[in-house]
Amino acid sequence: MFKSTMNFLLCSIIFSTFLSITASVHAHNRCKSEKLAKCVCGNVYYVETPYYMVNCTNTGFTDASMLREIPFDTEAVLFTGNRVESLPENIFGEEKNFTKLRLIDMSNNGIRDIPGKTFHHVPNVEMLILNHNNIKISYDEDKTYHHPRVFSNFINLRELHLTNAFADNTDEQLANDLHDIFDKSHLTNVFRLHLEQNEIRYFKDTKVFCNLPSLTQLYLGNNLISHVDFESFKCLKLQFLDLQNNSITELSNTDLEALDALEDIAMKERTMSVDLNGNPLKCSTSLNFHNWLQKTNVVIRHEKELQCYVTIGNMRRAVNLNTIGETKRAKLSNAITVLLVTLGLVLVSLVAAYGYLNRARLRNRMSPILDVVSRKVQYTTIESQIV
Ligand SMILES: *[C@@H]1O[C@H](CO)[C@@H](O)[C@H](O)[C@H]1NC(C)=O
Ligand SMILES: *[C@@H]1O[C@H](CO)[C@@H](O)[C@H](O)[C@H]1NC(C)=O
Ligand SMILES: *[C@@H]1O[C@H](CO)[C@@H](O)[C@H](O)[C@H]1NC(C)=O
Repeated sequence: MFKSTMNFLLCSIIFSTFLSITASVHAHNRCKSEKLAKCVCGNVYYVETPYYMVNCTNTGFTDASMLREIPFDTEAVLFTGNRVESLPENIFGEEKNFTKLRLIDMSNNGIRDIPGKTFHHVPNVEMLILNHNNIKISYDEDKTYHHPRVFSNFINLRELHLTNAFADNTDEQLANDLHDIFDKSHLTNVFRLHLEQNEIRYFKDTKVFCNLPSLTQLYLGNNLISHVDFESFKCLKLQFLDLQNNSITELSNTDLEALDALEDIAMKERTMSVDLNGNPLKCSTSLNFHNWLQKTNVVIRHEKELQCYVTIGNMRRAVNLNTIGETKRAKLSNAITVLLVTLGLVLVSLVAAYGYLNRARLRNRMSPILDVVSRKVQYTTIESQIV
């Protein structure tokens, strides 16, 4: 009796272990479609958030048709490291409304074309990541190709990641394209926009970001921007502006005043920060900037690491921006020392001249004292000779 109970227990333990193992294997293979066999479906954490995810990373796909098969419950689609030049219309199919879908990451796929009708039925997607692609919004050669409405269905989008996302087209074209995208797409909830590494030199329309009324964090690092019209950000309540590794050589008083004005706008919510690290600032014109840093309420990230450059001949030398103020201060104290020493010398020579001119009178007055001193000297000399 006892033995059979033990056997039964052992069997159930083994059986349930087996069940749970198959269940967990199953959990990582719940794509429920042949076409998605190379993908992994299951619950995972991504960017610190739990998602039910369809993960097709480095699967070698050359088209995106399998995405029409994703389960209705999908919360995140990770489709990266494949080779898909052109995305299809209605990428997730026409029938289903993917109300649970919150994140789409299609980075690093060599994507060039995104037709205006690609993303439909994505009402609750909050984060769209299209980093490292070759997206073209318009072609010079083909005037009929113009797809600025790519993001128009992302009515609840909060974060748009477009780092190194665009084809190497001209600045003017990219600036125009961005303008059209933001103008046509009504991205009213986007608060974070990444546009790093896009070889941007300038924005033809400096108010290009005003069509994103919720924008508070703008990432423009690793571009080729040499001047920013801070005035034009007045339409936003910016909290962070990333300008790392650009081509800014100087910040004029007008620029700095405009930055302070932005801080005044932002302050109602939070402080405003700017990152200017890695720009080729000229030391010769950076003293105003240095002085401004001491008194502004704008938070400067990496302030201690800021550098400016001095060019001597064809040598370029980096100097820590914080020390240019110190050398100025050092120069000032040197000047004061020189002045004091000069004044001292003048005083001494005046006294000497006075003494020389009045030497007769002085000698009469001083003689009793001098006598005492000389006698004392004589005694000491005698004493020391005795010893
Ligand atoms: C997605 O799949 C790739 C390859 O299988 C894996 O390396 C990566 O960790 C997965 N990502 C997540 C968020 O699960
Ligand atoms: C999809 O869902 C959204 C949000 O729930 C809703 O507003 C929209 O009308 C739905 N669209 C379709 C085609 O079912
Ligand atoms: C800026 O450029 C330097 C040198 O090229 C690089 O090491 C650094 O990672 C860049 N910063 C960012 C934020 O990419």
